Amino acid sequence: MTVSVAPTAPAGVSTIQEELILVLDFGGQTAQLIARRVRDQNVFCQLVRHDLSIERIQELNPKGLILSGGPASVYDKGSPKVDPRLFDLGIPILGICYGLQLVCQTLGGSVKSGTKREFGRTECRVVAADPFLNGIPEAITVWMSHGDQVDDTVGLFRPLMSTSTCSIAAVKHHTKPIYGLQFHPEVTHTEQGGRLLANFVKEVCGCHGTWKISSLIEREVAAIKARVGNNRVICGLSGGVDSSVVAAILYRAIGSQLSCIFVDNGLLRKGESDKVRDRFQNHFKTDLHVVDAKDRFLQELAGVTEPQQKRKIIGRVFIEVFRKEAESIPDAKFLAQGTLYPDVIESGANADGPAATIKAHHNVGGLPEQLGFELIEPLRDLFKDEVRRMGLELGLTEELVWRHPFPGPGLGVRCLGELSAPRLTKLREADAIVLEELRSAGLYRVIQQAFAVLLPVQSVGVMGDGRTYEEVIAVRAVSTDDFMTADWYPMPHDVLQRISTRIINEVRGVNRVVYDISSKPPSTIEWE
Ligand code: XMP
Repeated sequence: MTVSVAPTAPAGVSTIQEELILVLDFGGQTAQLIARRVRDQNVFCQLVRHDLSIERIQELNPKGLILSGGPASVYDKGSPKVDPRLFDLGIPILGICYGLQLVCQTLGGSVKSGTKREFGRTECRVVAADPFLNGIPEAITVWMSHGDQVDDTVGLFRPLMSTSTCSIAAVKHHTKPIYGLQFHPEVTHTEQGGRLLANFVKEVCGCHGTWKISSLIEREVAAIKARVGNNRVICGLSGGVDSSVVAAILYRAIGSQLSCIFVDNGLLRKGESDKVRDRFQNHFKTDLHVVDAKDRFLQELAGVTEPQQKRKIIGRVFIEVFRKEAESIPDAKFLAQGTLYPDVIESGANADGPAATIKAHHNVGGLPEQLGFELIEPLRDLFKDEVRRMGLELGLTEELVWRHPFPGPGLGVRCLGELSAPRLTKLREADAIVLEELRSAGLYRVIQQAFAVLLPVQSVGVMGDGRTYEEVIAVRAVSTDDFMTADWYPMPHDVLQRISTRIINEVRGVNRVVYDISSKPPSTIEWE
C-alpha cells in the first residue's frame, strides 16, 4: 500500500481508529510475511522502518510491536538498532530472531555468536506455560535461521521453549510484556507459527480481531483521495486481477478522475477485450480507452520466431502504444500499477528502501519515469490472496478474481513459431476449449495455471476419407504454490479426452493434441 507508515508515504494512516500491530523491519526476507500472518487474524498490521520515531509510534497507538528478523549480527558495525525507550512504553513486544537478539542486547543482556549455526527445521519443546503458548503442543517443528543467539546471562528472560542447541528458543521477559522467538513463526515450515502469532496478537496484546479487508479498502481510498487531490490518474488494465483491483479501488476513491487504458494487442484470450469493456465501461463507469493495436503488433512481429525477440518487440510496442494513449489524456499526473509484494521481492528491492521497483517483466515497466508520472501502487504490501479478497469485496466477479495468471506477452509466447492472425485464432479457440472443460469438470480452481500452446509442427492425420497435414496443440496444466517450481497436473483421462475431441472437432487446422508432462524445473511453465 502506498499508505504505509514508512517515510516514503506517510499519509493517511491514523485517520481510522482500529487495532494496529506494527512490524519494525530489520531487513529480514520474511518481514512482510509477519504482517500478512497478523492480518490473517483480522488485526491490521503494517511493516514500518525499524527507526520509526517513538513519537510517531505513540501517535499510531499500536496494540503491539513485532521486531522482525534481519541479516545483520547485533555486533556488526552499523547494524540497525532500536530506541531503548521503546521498551518502557508498556506496549507488548515480540522480537523475532534478530529482533530478539536486539531486545536482549538493548536491555543489557548478551548475545553470543553461535558456535553452531542453526539453519532449517528443528524440534522445539515447550518448557513453561504461558498465554503466548496457548494451544501449542508439547513439541513442534520450527524453522531456525540464525548464527547468533541470545545468552541470557543477566536473567532477563524466562525460557518458554527450547531446542537441543538453544535453551531459550522462546522467552518472556520477567517483568515487561516482552516476548521473543529465536525461530521464525511466520514461515509455513514452522508448525503452529500462525498460532503463536495469533496468541501474541490476541492473548498478549488483547486484540479482538475485528479488522476486515474492507477496512483496508477504506484506508486505501482515503489515502488515494488525499494524495491525488483534483488530479487525474491513469491506470493500465491488463484484464487480470491485479490491475482490475487497482482500477476498482481508484474508481471508488476518485471516480471520474480515473482514466483506464486497455491495449488490445491481438494476443489476448477469447472474449477478453469484451470482458474488460463490460467491467470497466458498463459496471464501473470509468473513462476507458481501449486501444485497438492488433494490426500494429502483428506487423511488428511478422516473421519473428525467436522467443526473446518476440517478447522484446511486444514489450516495446506496448510501451509505445500505451504512451501515445497516455499522452492524449490531458492533466494526468499519476500512473497506477498493480505491483504486489512478491513482485517487490522478485525485483530485489527491500521493503525498507524507498526505491520504486517494478516487476522485471511488467507490462508498463519504465513508463512512469519516461512519462514523468508519479506512481500509485495500492497493492504494494499485499499478497495475492489478499488482493483476491479485496477484489471480491470491491464487486469484481469470482471468475476474474480467480483467473489464472496470463503473461504480459500473452498468446504471443504460446503461439510458437511465426505469429499470424489465423494461427492466433486457432490457438485462441483451442485455449477457450481447455478452460471451458476445466471449469465444467470443477478443476479450474484446483489447477493454478492451464492453457493451450500452438506448436509450429505439422503432423499427418486422417479425417473422414482424407489425409490431413495440420498443426498440433499442446495442453499445459500445472500445480504450483509460487510459480517458481511447478508440477504437471495429473489430469483425469476423461477430461483430457473431452479436451482433445473438442479441439480436433471444433478447431480448424488442428489434427493432434498432446499433453505436456514436464515439471518446472527443468522446464518452464510457458513454452517460450
Ligand atoms: P515460467 O514460464 O517462467 O513462468 O515458468 C512463471 C510464471 O510467470 C508467468 N510469466 C509472465 N508473466 N509477463 C508476465 O506478466 C511475462 O513476460 C511472463 N513470462 C512468464 C507465467 O505465465 C507463469 O505464471
